[in-house]
Amino acid sequence: MKQTTSMKYTYGTPIETDAVVDKGIQQGKELIRLVEGEGCFTYTLKPETVVYGLGENLRGINKRGWIYESFCADDCVHTEAKRSLYGAHNFFIVAEDKPFGVFVDYPGRISFDIGYSNIDELIIKPETMDFNLYIIEGETPLEIVKAFRQMIGTSYIPPKWAFGYQQSRWSYKTSEEVRQVAKNFKDNGIPIDTIYLDIDYMERFKDFTVDETAFPNFEAFVQEMKEMGIRLIPIIDAGVKVEEDYETYEEGLKENCFVTDGEGNVFEGAVWPGKVHFPDFLNSKTRRWFGHKYAFLLDKGIEGFWNDMNEPAIFYTPKAVEAAMANVEKHRGENIDLGTFFGIKDSFSNIMNQEAYYKDMYHDMDGVRVCHYDVHNLYGYNMTRAAGEAFKELRPNTRTLLFSRASYIGMHRYGGIWTGDNCSWWSHLLLNIKMMPSLNMCGFMYAGADVGGFSDNTTEELLTRWLQFGVFTPLLRNHTAAYTRFQEPYNFKYTERIKKWIEMRYALVPYLYSEYMKATLSNDMLFKPLAFEYNDPHCTQVEDQLLVGESIMIAPVYEQNKTGRYVYLPENMLYVNFESATNYTVEEMKKGHHYIEADLDHLPVFIRPNHMLILGEVAANVEAQDSSKLHAIGYYKDHCAYKLYEDDGITPKPKLEDSITEIYMSDINVKPEKLEKIEVYKISSCE
Ligand code: GLC
Repeated sequence: MKQTTSMKYTYGTPIETDAVVDKGIQQGKELIRLVEGEGCFTYTLKPETVVYGLGENLRGINKRGWIYESFCADDCVHTEAKRSLYGAHNFFIVAEDKPFGVFVDYPGRISFDIGYSNIDELIIKPETMDFNLYIIEGETPLEIVKAFRQMIGTSYIPPKWAFGYQQSRWSYKTSEEVRQVAKNFKDNGIPIDTIYLDIDYMERFKDFTVDETAFPNFEAFVQEMKEMGIRLIPIIDAGVKVEEDYETYEEGLKENCFVTDGEGNVFEGAVWPGKVHFPDFLNSKTRRWFGHKYAFLLDKGIEGFWNDMNEPAIFYTPKAVEAAMANVEKHRGENIDLGTFFGIKDSFSNIMNQEAYYKDMYHDMDGVRVCHYDVHNLYGYNMTRAAGEAFKELRPNTRTLLFSRASYIGMHRYGGIWTGDNCSWWSHLLLNIKMMPSLNMCGFMYAGADVGGFSDNTTEELLTRWLQFGVFTPLLRNHTAAYTRFQEPYNFKYTERIKKWIEMRYALVPYLYSEYMKATLSNDMLFKPLAFEYNDPHCTQVEDQLLVGESIMIAPVYEQNKTGRYVYLPENMLYVNFESATNYTVEEMKKGHHYIEADLDHLPVFIRPNHMLILGEVAANVEAQDSSKLHAIGYYKDHCAYKLYEDDGITPKPKLEDSITEIYMSDINVKPEKLEKIEVYKISSCE
C-alpha cells in the first residue's frame, strides 16, 4: 500500500457515532485542503476535478453539479430533484492531481453542495459545528478509499448462500402463497436461495410475532422450505405496536426502552401497525434488549433478516392528526379561499415524516439526553447494530444475513443495505449501476437494489435487463410493492430467458464470492469506476461501465428497446458474449470505442489482460453447487493466476490467507490439481 496520511480535526462537541474504529488518527492542527468559512468548509474545484463518493445517493458517479444532503429519508420517489435517499454517507474524494478524501462524522443534517450554488465550488455545510472531520491524502482515489475503509473497520460478511438469487414481494400473505412461489420456482427449474417474508407474516404488523392463521406451524414451515433449499427471510420494522399485553411493547415500556418526547412521555408515532413506540437504539441497554428479541425467529430456524422503516419512517403522529382535523373543523362551512384550501389539503398530504416529529423525539444515549433531530442519521444504523451485536451472542458460530434500509457509515460493519423503494423505471436501473462504487467506497459491500423495481409496474424487458446487471451485485433480490404487477420470473412470457440469467448468477458465484471476500477483507472495492484503475482521462467520462472485481469489466444495457450499446475499452480486452452460463463466444477487442450487439439473449463481459474469469456450476441453490467443478476463461500472454477464495461460507470472522487457492495458467500447466475440473480458454495474443 502506498503512503496515505489521515488527519482528524475536532470541531465543537461531537456526538460519538462509532463510525471510526481506528482511534489513533492524528489530530491535525492546521486544516489542510479545505477552507473554513462561516459555518461551512469550501474548496475550489478545478475544471478537471472529479468528486466521487457520498454512498447511497442520487445522480452520477461524478458527484459534481448537484447538492446532496445527508438526512436519512423515507422517500420512495427518487427523482433527480431529490437531495437525500435512505442512507447518510458523508465520505467523498476530490480526485485531481493531488487527491484527498473527506469524511465528516456528523450524525445530523449536512449538505454537500458540489458545484450547485457555484459551479466551481464545493461547500460542506453541517447544521451545527460539532463533528470530527477527517482528511485523507493519498496518491490515488483507491488508496484513499482503502485508508478510509481501514479507519472504519471491516465490512459485514454475509453467509455464502446470500449470494444466490432471492425472491420477494410485498407481500406473500400466507404460507400457502409462499409454498406456491417455491413450487413455481422448482417446477420451472429456476435456481433460488431465499424467499422474503414482508410485513404480512406478522400478527397485525407486530415485530417478533407470527400470524398463526396465515402462517400456521411456522417452525415446521421454515424447515419444510429449507428442505427445498430455500431460506425464509423475514422483515423487522423499527416501530413497536402500541398494544396492551403485546410482549415487546410491555417489556419496552417497563424497561424504558422507547424514545421519549419533549415532555418526557413516550413518543407516539404511527407506521404499518398504527400507533407505535420507537425503541431507543442509541441506548446500549435497549440495543441489547431489541437485538435479543430476534431470537424469537432465530429459534424457529430463521437465518436472515431485513430491517426496515428505520429512518425512522413516521406516517403520522396522533398529535399531528388531531391538529389537521382541528384545522378542517375550524373551516367547516366557511367559504374558504385558495390559501385555506391548500392549507387544509397539505395538513394531511404533508403529514408523513415531518421534521417536527424528529424534533420532538429524545434519546437517552447512555445517560445523555439528545434530541433525535441532531442524531437522526444514526437510528437505522443502530437498529442494525442491535441485531448484529445480538447475533454474535445468539449465533456465534455462523453468519446471519442482515441488511437495512436506513444507514450511516459504521453500520457497514453489522449489515448490508438495499437501496430502498426504487421504481420500475429505466433511470433507476442506471442509478443502481452508478451507485454501486460509491456504496463500496463507504464500506457498504453487501448491497443491491430491488431488481425489477419496487413501485410501479415493471416490464419483461426491464426486469431482464435489471437482472443482467443484478447478477453482479452481491445482494440479488427481485422485490416489488403490493398492488404492482407480479414480478416473479415465471409470470413473464420468456421465463426460460429470465431463468438462464438467474443460472448465470449461479455460474458467477465462485468469482463473485471470491472477489467479495478478497475486497472486503482487504478494504478494497468490488465495484470500481474505470478511472480508479486506468490513468486514462477518457475513463472519468464513463459512468455506465464498471469494473467488477479484479478480472472483469461490465457494460450493462439500461435503455428500453436497445439491442446493443457503445462500450469504451481502456485497454485490449477479451469480449465474452454470453448467451447463457455455458454457451458463449469470445473475441479479442482492441482498446478504444466499440459498438457491441447485446439483445436480451446476450450478456457481454470483458476480461482484462492477464486475468481470468472463473465460472461455477449452475445449481439449484448455492449450497448445492459442486465447488470443485470450475471453468476458467483466461486471457493472457504467457501465464496468469487467480486467487480463488473458498471457505465454508458460514464461519464468522473469515481470514483472507486461509481460504485462497491459486489457479495458475500457463502454456505448460494449469494448477491446482485439487480442483476436479478446470477448463481453460486461453487467448494468447494479449499484449
Ligand atoms: C417499505 C420497504 C419495502 C416493503 C414495504 C412493506 O416500503 O421499503 O421494501 O416492501 O415497506 O413492508
